[in-house]
Amino acid sequence: MQTSPNKKQLVIGNWKMNGSSAANAGLLRSLLPVISSLEGVEVALCPPFPYLSTVADLLDDSDVALGAQNLSTELTGAYTGEVGGTMLRDIGCRFVLVGHSERRALYGEDDACVAKKFATALQAGLIPVLCVGETLVQRQSGETQAIVTAQLNAVLNAVGFNDLVKGVIAYEPVWAIGTGETATPEQAQAVHRHIRQWLASQHRAAAADCRILYGGSVKADNAEQLFSQPDIDGGLIGGASLDAMSFAAICSAAQVKPTS
Ligand code: PGA
Repeated sequence: MQTSPNKKQLVIGNWKMNGSSAANAGLLRSLLPVISSLEGVEVALCPPFPYLSTVADLLDDSDVALGAQNLSTELTGAYTGEVGGTMLRDIGCRFVLVGHSERRALYGEDDACVAKKFATALQAGLIPVLCVGETLVQRQSGETQAIVTAQLNAVLNAVGFNDLVKGVIAYEPVWAIGTGETATPEQAQAVHRHIRQWLASQHRAAAADCRILYGGSVKADNAEQLFSQPDIDGGLIGGASLDAMSFAAICSAAQVKPTS
């Protein structure tokens, strides 16, 4: 059981809480001409909320999709300070990150909250990108697969398998995010294979079609090795997505996928 050779690899840039109107425009001015010629890879960018509309305008003539980094558990209503999925869809978002480890660790988002956000994203017509991954302590005590499976099960139990595979899964080992420490291609592939097999135990064909991205210190010089692993279907890129040339090189590395 491996990834389907027919599906495009997906590379998503997560700008986190970085950028400014001027910096974003400069980044896109350098980036878009370089990545517009790429084939066989789908690219999306997730700027902070205040810049979504402007970035949507700047992406208008390109094939690059827009994504958000977060959404409310609720669709609409009296929730001061929250941003609803229907609003994100309304301004042109296609993707939304759900359960990023920074949201889980710093903002107390538990599995139930993540599952609710996943369901709400689908209701709003967005494609949720479900982030899962273990901490260093959990890896060292041999719990990686159990943690990842529990995070996946929380969403499966809330929305069911058919809806789960409408999303994208991103395996992001917490110890590799923003640390410069990348999982080796073999370490990443082992967890991606586990996720694929877990999906396949529910439905074989859907498991092959579901995109499983790797995230955690992906850089221009390690992207190709990671993306060529049989069960890695692209990447979720933080720091390196803020540099046009690095991100372009990462997107370009995702073009090459040997069929196995
Ligand atoms: P990083 O972040 O590439 O800076 O490690 C990845 C992420 O948090 O999605």
